[in-house]
Amino acid sequence: MISIRTEREIDLMRQANAIVASAHKLAAKMIVPGTCTRDLDKAVEALIREAGGKPAFKGYRGYPASTCVSIDNEVVHGIPGKRILCAGEIVSIDIGVCYKGYYGDAAVTHPCGAVDALRMRLLEVTDLALSRAIRAAKVGNCLNDIGTVIEKTSRDAGFDVVRNYVGHGIGVEMHEDPQIFNFDAGEPGPRLEEGMALAIEPMVNAGTGDVRVKRDKWTVVTRDGKPSAHFEHTVVVRKDGGEILSWCDAPAWGVREA
Ligand code: MF3
Ligand code: CO
Repeated sequence: MISIRTEREIDLMRQANAIVASAHKLAAKMIVPGTCTRDLDKAVEALIREAGGKPAFKGYRGYPASTCVSIDNEVVHGIPGKRILCAGEIVSIDIGVCYKGYYGDAAVTHPCGAVDALRMRLLEVTDLALSRAIRAAKVGNCLNDIGTVIEKTSRDAGFDVVRNYVGHGIGVEMHEDPQIFNFDAGEPGPRLEEGMALAIEPMVNAGTGDVRVKRDKWTVVTRDGKPSAHFEHTVVVRKDGGEILSWCDAPAWGVREA
């Protein structure tokens, strides 16, 4: 069952996502060569707690950190630790917050220093796939319109989408119905209604979409070792497209047109 949120609930989700956004603003400044991923995680956690929120990922199914930091060939769920960020890498940071019982969730992939043209294009295409998907999150469309536009945008650029991980409904839990595939599932799925809250999160690989999980039981990596990008926003379905709750003015999501 897909919940329809009241405007009061959406306002609480807006507050949770405002904390997510300010954490992303801080993270954006720290994603530079020489930063230790554990320091990044600790700084984000402190900001979330000072704002009165709870890091939603910490303890979720035993996950040990407040953020996921996934570098280059890592797709999602990278655990912050001793690793130092290097110039030329692309660094995805995923942040979830619970505030007054409501959730916010957003991710973005940053270039660390200067990166090559392939990586830059991968970021642009994944971000573009997300913004097109958000526009498709409108009343009257079907759920599958979201995955279809993500897959088409990625494939047209010569990239591939990850099929093993999905976006999700969000609200009073981090993960609610429905699952949001990043590809055309072949059937329309439920009709989108005003007030549905969705975390849309394309994961796009430069090579094939095949992934595996590392021995740490969390870090998802590409099978072919090529880079991967991940962008995510929490949105509410509206008549003219998704309203982004996790909006952030840090250099991050370009929300590129068309
Ligand atoms: N944004 C991710 C998701 O929606 C992050 C979950 S990480 C976990 O699934 F550690 F909490 F699992
Ligand atoms: Co998510």
